[in-house]
Amino acid sequence: MLINWKRYLKKALYFHRISWHWLLGHRVRAHEYAVDYDTVSATYNRTWEARMGKHTQSMLDRVIAQPGSRILDLACGTGFVLECQAKKLSPAEMIGIDCSKGMLELARERLSEKCREWSGRFILSHGDMLEEIRKLPDAHFDVVTCCWAMSYSRPDALMREISRVLKSGGMAGIVDNTRQTLPGVEQAVIELMQEAPLDFRTVNDIRFRLPAGSTSLKRLFGKNGLVCCEHWDGEETFEFRNGTEAVVWLFECGALAGNFRLFGRTDMSNRLAQVFDRKGLRSTVHRFCAVVGKKC
Ligand SMILES: C[S@@+](CC[C@H](N)C(=O)[O-])C[C@H]1O[C@@H](n2cnc3c(N)ncnc32)[C@H](O)[C@@H]1O
Repeated sequence: MLINWKRYLKKALYFHRISWHWLLGHRVRAHEYAVDYDTVSATYNRTWEARMGKHTQSMLDRVIAQPGSRILDLACGTGFVLECQAKKLSPAEMIGIDCSKGMLELARERLSEKCREWSGRFILSHGDMLEEIRKLPDAHFDVVTCCWAMSYSRPDALMREISRVLKSGGMAGIVDNTRQTLPGVEQAVIELMQEAPLDFRTVNDIRFRLPAGSTSLKRLFGKNGLVCCEHWDGEETFEFRNGTEAVVWLFECGALAGNFRLFGRTDMSNRLAQVFDRKGLRSTVHRFCAVVGKKC
């Protein structure tokens, strides 16, 4: 009985703290994602890209453009998309934008090392993708992509800008996690917050910006003057031997970016691993959706 009271009290405190942080605007900000991705940059290619890169590639395979085109990749990360596009489309110009200096540094190395044959011009721009795209001219690009990152920004505003900078007949491609991604993980983070309601100092609201699925991405394209050519949903399952392995994976691939400092005073990774073990979590599923479309 006493234990139950303790639990209910903690739950009440948790809801109070969530509302408090929410009202005071203590949400994860763009610069915090940037800091987390600086940390992730060293492990990103061998974790996320090695497993999920094929799904990015499958979206890029559906994007058609002539050689000599102009390409923009939003949240370009370590440059996977830029490398693929340079090799496939031989563009005249490519611009990549990302808020993490660590990720951009790897993109720069990658393009210099792996795209020696390509003679086009590339610019890697450091900053918030929505702020940076607003500085770019109307109807300038033949292809605009944004992979695994749209929800870090404001999807509606970003899509409006993508449409504005695309030439008529130009193509856009998006791939992103869906709201149903990583079942079990979000619940474990909430459980951790409920266990230590006084320890967390910010809330992560990315879930509310994630698309429900490819149909909602298709609608977003339609609203902004883009005709959907193809849209699809997919998933990739990840298995773990124990909670520690799960947590290492989630941190190293960037899936928990924005949450690294969710807890101010406690060691989040150890405690999260304990929650996973208690819940017996041995696998999770990255659920995602993608759309490729054309500007009318
Ligand atoms: C999951 S990674 C995807 C990287 C790349 N698109 C790929 O497919 O490999 C997410 C990227 O989004 C970047 N990012 C997050 N929020 C951003 C923002 N507001 N503006 C620009 N880049 C952002 C991160 O720095 C990170 O490089």
